[in-house]
Amino acid sequence: MSHVFSTDSFNFAELGYVVIESNYLERWLVFGRDGIGLHAEYLSEDMLSFRIDQHARRFLIKKGTSEDLTSLGFRIKDENSLQNILGILKKRNISVKKGNGFDASLRGVDAFWEFSGPKGLKIEIFTQPILTETPLNMLSQGFVTEQFGMGHVAIVSKQPEKLIEFWQEIFGARISDRIEQRMSGVILDITFLRMNPRHHSLAIAATRGLRMDPLPTRIQHLNLEVKNLEDMTQAYHRCKELGFEIAHGIGQHPNDLELSFYVITPSGFEFEVGWNPIAVNENEWKQNKYNRISAWGHEPENATAFSRWNEFARGFLSLFRSEYSPF
Ligand SMILES: [Fe+2]
Repeated sequence: MSHVFSTDSFNFAELGYVVIESNYLERWLVFGRDGIGLHAEYLSEDMLSFRIDQHARRFLIKKGTSEDLTSLGFRIKDENSLQNILGILKKRNISVKKGNGFDASLRGVDAFWEFSGPKGLKIEIFTQPILTETPLNMLSQGFVTEQFGMGHVAIVSKQPEKLIEFWQEIFGARISDRIEQRMSGVILDITFLRMNPRHHSLAIAATRGLRMDPLPTRIQHLNLEVKNLEDMTQAYHRCKELGFEIAHGIGQHPNDLELSFYVITPSGFEFEVGWNPIAVNENEWKQNKYNRISAWGHEPENATAFSRWNEFARGFLSLFRSEYSPF
């Protein structure tokens, strides 16, 4: 069943925006504007937004107690594809709600539909972003977006098969490759899923055997791709100088060959700034398997970061926590 949809619907979805809920808006402002180098705007006292390109919004950060990324907004190429997705959701008995006009304008879209996705993440879909001619005022020289979407997200799951099926069936995602990594005595299996030429819009990680998820946040990291190498290295130095904890220093992944570093956001999940990943050419792509997550680098930079890397040892508590799945 998922086969039919994945063949028909591939290459019509991209990550469009994210919604984050945090009590630390001022810290997020410093992090996004002065650290990563994004264009920042307060929409009101309790709402902050970031832009990285012509889209009026890419990040909406609302004051609130979740301290997490709460919604992923996916842009769907056209009305037909949107109707196709709504049809699949209906068949799957997943209830969908149309967002109101105010919430749509906050997200920089003309309209959107929302439903509950894996791990209680709200999945929002839209076709028309609101674009702006207002020049960008940001430290970074630019980000790779367009048909690649705004970046990618990594999620740790105790039921990765269900998550993979979810993204394949609803968004036509295809598996780009897999990595298995041994760490702290457990094996982590990571599956990379693409929805467009970006090597992956989603990475799903799971421990082999006993399934664990020690993370308090729904996502493990969010990634943006900068256009120039120095935008990545300078963001690294700025984040460090501003006192944001570097989870993993600069390194390179063996599959998409992206050079990147990981810094911890004010909400606790990680933010990856990457440069120069390879894009997928559908005619030539061969699925590969790798046995480590980094070809080099990505070393934990201090004690706290190191203990985060070892969180899987404590992940055992999560065995007793249930994880929501719409499938
Ligand atoms: Fe990543």
